[in-house]
Amino acid sequence: MEYLQTQGISLPRLGLGTFRMQGEACRAAVESALGLGYRHIDTAEMYGNEDAVGTAIAASRLARKDLHVTTKVWHENLAPDAIRRAFDASLKKLKLDQVDLYLVHWPSKNMNLPAVFETLLKLKQQGRTRAIGVANFNLALLKTVVEEIKAPIACNQIEYHVMLDQTRVAKYLAAKSIPLVAYAPLAQGRAVPDETLIAIGRKHGASAAQVALKWLLDQDGVAAIPKASHAESQQANLEALKLKLDDEDRKAIAALPKDKRFVNPGFAPAWD
Ligand SMILES: NC(=O)c1ccc[n+]([C@@H]2O[C@H](COP(=O)([O-])OP(=O)(O)OC[C@H]3O[C@@H](n4cnc5c(N)ncnc54)[C@H](OP(=O)(O)O)[C@@H]3O)[C@@H](O)[C@H]2O)c1
Repeated sequence: MEYLQTQGISLPRLGLGTFRMQGEACRAAVESALGLGYRHIDTAEMYGNEDAVGTAIAASRLARKDLHVTTKVWHENLAPDAIRRAFDASLKKLKLDQVDLYLVHWPSKNMNLPAVFETLLKLKQQGRTRAIGVANFNLALLKTVVEEIKAPIACNQIEYHVMLDQTRVAKYLAAKSIPLVAYAPLAQGRAVPDETLIAIGRKHGASAAQVALKWLLDQDGVAAIPKASHAESQQANLEALKLKLDDEDRKAIAALPKDKRFVNPGFAPAWD
């Protein structure tokens, strides 16, 4: 597994997403992934599955230092007291003393950003999270966090896949050496039946999903967290790392429509 070094943590470039997985199914999927060699699990208080994720981690008996766990605070809980309460609840459900990365899940229109980061930094200083970061922050918000608040963010987790252009945010993150963690890296499954990706995959004996993942992971400073419930897909996604795309493949992927944003809740500030 390859890692990205950021703010004192080593982030495995391929992780397991867990949105829309709950209870026993989630526990089984995370246990399967850990057994196959995944060392990066992405969860959030909003997913309602931290308990199941924690149970799978405990059962894995992996050394804690070998595992990266990200969780996130929901946008309704960004007041300092609410962050502290949400964090305590997440840690308890995960059955951990510390998470590796704690993210603001979504910006909210009325959040007090300096107060949010003061609270997150305190959690980091207390050793309860090893690093802090953001998700779904547009360029303007990122600039505020990095250049005005000067918060040591370890990533921006955003929607990014073969059907969505993220050049502006990606360039900014790269210039600041901040990893981009691509969520919905398979365009929520829509990459799977795409004819262009299928044709590229056929050439290499790979699937469309593997092509979509490798296109992301060929980019410097990018990690990806596909959600996969079944062992077969989890294994296939791990094997995507071995695929070698060529210039012709990249050209065909570049020509796909890049305006497909599938996650856009009304409560968040506009994208650009
Ligand atoms: N920060 C945020 O606001 C945010 C927002 C959205 C998502 N996320 C994170 O990102 C993760 C991934 O995003 P996502 O779950 O929305 O979408 P995704 O990972 O792009 O797509 C998941 C879909 O792809 C299928 N799949 C996975 N591997 C496959 C393979 N090798 N072949 C064929 N199909 C495959 C899955 O099947 P199964 O249904 O069989 O598993 C599922 O239907 C989430 O789980 C979550 O952890 C974060």
